[in-house]
Amino acid sequence: MASTGSVVGGIVSVLVVVAALYYVRQPPDAILRDRLEKVLLSLLKAEKKASLASKPRVAVGLGACQDAFVDGLELFDRYNLTPPALSAHYDSIHDHQELAQMFAYFFNHGAAAERYMDNITLFRDLMDIVYKMPNARFELGGNAPVMANRFAAEGCNVLLGAHLSTGLKEVMREGITVTGDEIEEDDIHLILEYPRQSSWGKYISPRANRFIIHSDRNNPSLNSLESFSGMLRDFNPSLVVVGGIQMMDNFPFSAGERESRLRLLQQMLVSIPAEQKTHFELASFTEQALFEEVLRYIVPYMDSLGMNEQELPNLYSMLHGGKITLISDPVPRVATVLDHMRKVWATLQKADTGGSKRRLSRLHVHTLAFQAIMTKKDSGWKNTMSAAAKASLTANRHVCGSPKIDLGKATVLMDDSFSTSRKEGSSRIPFKENRPVSCWEEHDYEICIAPVLVCTEVRQTAGGGDNISSAGLVLQI
Ligand SMILES: *[C@@H]1O[C@H](CO)[C@@H](O)[C@H](O)[C@H]1NC(C)=O
Ligand SMILES: *[C@@H]1O[C@H](CO)[C@@H](O)[C@H](O)[C@H]1NC(C)=O
Repeated sequence: MASTGSVVGGIVSVLVVVAALYYVRQPPDAILRDRLEKVLLSLLKAEKKASLASKPRVAVGLGACQDAFVDGLELFDRYNLTPPALSAHYDSIHDHQELAQMFAYFFNHGAAAERYMDNITLFRDLMDIVYKMPNARFELGGNAPVMANRFAAEGCNVLLGAHLSTGLKEVMREGITVTGDEIEEDDIHLILEYPRQSSWGKYISPRANRFIIHSDRNNPSLNSLESFSGMLRDFNPSLVVVGGIQMMDNFPFSAGERESRLRLLQQMLVSIPAEQKTHFELASFTEQALFEEVLRYIVPYMDSLGMNEQELPNLYSMLHGGKITLISDPVPRVATVLDHMRKVWATLQKADTGGSKRRLSRLHVHTLAFQAIMTKKDSGWKNTMSAAAKASLTANRHVCGSPKIDLGKATVLMDDSFSTSRKEGSSRIPFKENRPVSCWEEHDYEICIAPVLVCTEVRQTAGGGDNISSAGLVLQI
């Protein structure tokens, strides 16, 4: 889904930087290896320190899709789409010319983007070609099903709010109940990948990235909302997770339709008993009006929020000035992230919650180099230290595509010590290899920072954030 695209874009850009940093900073092999080994052993120990409550019940919504990955230029070649004279930017795509112009625009900037295609015929024509391309890859997409699979893999009992086809149902793990009716065709997200320095007519990509198009019918209207709400009470979960809302971004709704769907979601959130926890997984929101509604109808009902290094500055900027921020530092420092987290935390503690009795008590930010989790004291979130370690290990496991961590394909990007804030005179925390997760208390909360053993041989990036967030949550309920 949308987050997948932007996350992927972010990760790709990050990797370029990582490769550079890795090259410059790499100490002699043996020392590095020894350091990594200590970090890995300590992270594994920290992860094991906490154990899962017996079969926790987790409800996750909303929506699902299938991601189709292809080489963008090869697809255009087969469709006979030629490079346009001028590139241009639109909110959505109506025909092949707009597709060409918009692709050229983002391709030439090497920027990740995702747009709705308001022309189902064109989308189908493209997909007919995609199905014939030998290198096309198809994967489960959407935040909710990816998170559901991770929760199930960790031993949870899961309720998934989604309508799935038989095909997608088959890739869902055991222990997952899907709420919605079976559908004939899944919404498809077509991911047009391109490498660095490839050329399309006069356009040249400065870096590898991807442009995503979709013509969703089910996801933007949150079609599984009713079935999910209907089963939620009886399922009696200890945690309710909401994600996939970015599918509404830039979708051409009729007047008032989007808001009425979000109000319905709000009603569901209001009805969740206080002893059940709630978590919202952010994503890349580019439409300001939608983000404002998310802040009004969803965020006040959340105990916990999860997001990546791009989404944190976007949330911060919306809360402190009401503006969208599309692109931020792909490898931010710990101090910068913590300062943003503190401000977001403080703002949401004071915010008018429109009658909601919940207050934010957990914030998880996943970045390439480290995991940061903030939890309110006595709020019932358990094992923050182990959760940060598990999130960090999951980041490596996911991107390297293997449950066993191979130190030959890992590196640490954190410096020998980090500053806890950009404010002058802030304390520095040394990075200890045999105690890599640093936790401390401030005001009414605890902060834990875990370094990521960054995978240097990327196998998969899509769904990274979803796996990491769920892995962190599972030890805390
Ligand atoms: C859909 O796209 C095709 C191909 O560009 C175009 O011929 C057709 O006019 C478009 N339909 C609409 C309703 O814009
Ligand atoms: C993350 O989720 C996807 C989809 O459920 C799965 O294919 C992948 O293996 C997961 N990663 C890990 C580390 O389990």
